[in-house]
Amino acid sequence: MATQQPATRPANPRFSSGPCAKPPTFELSKLAGAPLGRSHRAAPGKAKLKEAIEGTREILGIPADYRIGIVPASDTGAVEMALWSLLGERKVEMLAWESFGAGWITDVVKQLKIEAEAKTADYGQIVDLASVDFANDVVFTWNGTTSGVRVPNGDWISDDRDGLTICDATSAAFAMDLPWDKLDVTTFSWQKVLGGEAAHGVIVLSPRAVERLENYTPAWPLPKIFRLTKGGKLIEGIFTGATINTPSMLAVEDYLFALNWARSVGGLEGLKARADANAQAVFDFCDANNWIANLAEDDATRSNTSVCLKFTDDRIQDGAAFAKAVAKRLDVEGIAYDIGAYRDAPAGLRIWCGGTVETSDIQAMLPWLAWAFDAELAAQAA
Ligand SMILES: Cc1ncc(COP(=O)(O)O)c(C=O)c1O
Repeated sequence: MATQQPATRPANPRFSSGPCAKPPTFELSKLAGAPLGRSHRAAPGKAKLKEAIEGTREILGIPADYRIGIVPASDTGAVEMALWSLLGERKVEMLAWESFGAGWITDVVKQLKIEAEAKTADYGQIVDLASVDFANDVVFTWNGTTSGVRVPNGDWISDDRDGLTICDATSAAFAMDLPWDKLDVTTFSWQKVLGGEAAHGVIVLSPRAVERLENYTPAWPLPKIFRLTKGGKLIEGIFTGATINTPSMLAVEDYLFALNWARSVGGLEGLKARADANAQAVFDFCDANNWIANLAEDDATRSNTSVCLKFTDDRIQDGAAFAKAVAKRLDVEGIAYDIGAYRDAPAGLRIWCGGTVETSDIQAMLPWLAWAFDAELAAQAA
């Protein structure tokens, strides 16, 4: 029994799956260059927004003919904008294996009320990707943040599809390879992998998505904050920094800082390597301890960002209460914040392993997890 508290503590106990840990070099004073109190449409603001767009393109390797827009309401805003603007032209397949994907199904089926086929899998599993018919539009989440299950790659997506692929990649972008030729709409938010501030989302459109936008008008009204076209033409300004409404220039400055930090660790390759090393430390810990396991059943689908864990010891009496108590112990000790499983997910823990987290912090935290587990078992017995 690891009753003794480990000697080493993580330097940073922030392992939240969103907002995620800020880059290790972050300090508030580094945002002093933000053009605060100025119009975002004045030259300095516009230049910052354009820099954010082009920095995103550079680091994520987004093709030159794809549009990148900064939009309101974080990833949710970007996904909703895509669903409302593009769907309804043909049947849609909705793929979901955790709560955010399930939320998009609700929107499409209960709000838009269009012809949709929902394919779902339980937490820990993934849907049968080989069964997807790309004559339809397809909506899916690259990495299921609340189950720690991701698609293994993009090989299952047809190259000569007729429908569009709409991908919520918020906990995947900047940590995993995204095959742009397979993705027509991709969304993410700044608060995730780069540890940016919340508020804004990013929407990436392929030329085929733009073609749909310019040739199809949904049957329902679109609020101004979703509108990407005017008079049947794409509003190009959105994709050069003329945002639909007022953005936070402080959040933009923070995102630019995060992009610069990403460059300093080797861009996307460096970010992926950092996330992989973090996740591998957790995987190794699970292999070495028979009381804890990855929620993802297939190694090929386990996430390298939102690593979800379940307790497997049959001495545990109340799984949900036990997991909560372990997370609380680690929080109270200042060892790990916000690592309880998502509210709709199975009882357990979720440890963010994206690139802004230092591997040394994961390694320092894990012995404490063993300590908290033993302490909670003892408390339960008492
Ligand atoms: C897969 C997924 N989609 C959407 C969201 C919502 O993101 P936001 O709060 O940035 O809108 C989250 C947040 O955790 C998420 O993990």
